[in-house]
Amino acid sequence: MTEVSPSHRTEVPSGAMSGAIDQALYRQVMGHFPTGVVIVASPGPVGTAIGSFQSLSLDPPLVLFSITKTSSSWPKIRETGVFCVSVLAEDQEHVSRAFAQSGADKFAGLGYKPMASGSPRIDDCVAWIDCDISDVLDGGDHDIVIGAIREMAIERETKPLIFFRGGYGL
Ligand SMILES: Cc1cc2nc3c(=O)[nH]c(=O)nc-3n(C[C@H](O)[C@H](O)[C@H](O)COP(=O)(O)O)c2cc1C
Repeated sequence: MTEVSPSHRTEVPSGAMSGAIDQALYRQVMGHFPTGVVIVASPGPVGTAIGSFQSLSLDPPLVLFSITKTSSSWPKIRETGVFCVSVLAEDQEHVSRAFAQSGADKFAGLGYKPMASGSPRIDDCVAWIDCDISDVLDGGDHDIVIGAIREMAIERETKPLIFFRGGYGL
């Protein structure tokens, strides 16, 4: 087995490994996994910035994301039973910042268009996936939202926005 140098690990007091994981450590370590950024939006319009979006199943076609139970947008999204995912482009950092603010008028000054579900798709995104909420599972302090895909398309062939180590870009 290849020895990993201790200098490549985050130093953790030995006691921390046997019990609860420190929240700062969790954020720091998980922040080293790069993600794309999407806007999950529903009729209202209502929406939020999400990094936990991913593909789930090809047959049937499903996607998922997790959302904090304290999100003010989530009860409104859930109520509609539908959502559209807009994959943000590299030049849409300002959109991510706007949608990561709680309580703000996130759609002000933004171009968007309702999809078949009635959910808004953000203009100039890389790709979009229009969904029905098919299931909501418990995920600790988050809910895991499963979406059954109605329609999807690539909108703009350009580089996606990346979130890594607490900032935008690699
Ligand atoms: C890059 C990025 C990724 C995020 N990913 C998630 C996520 O996967 N789940 C989540 O609940 N919040 C995530 N957030 C935080 C939410 O966007 C933020 O808490 C939320 O928009 C607050 O507004 P709300 O109360 O209207 O939901 C992310 C924020 C950013 C900037």
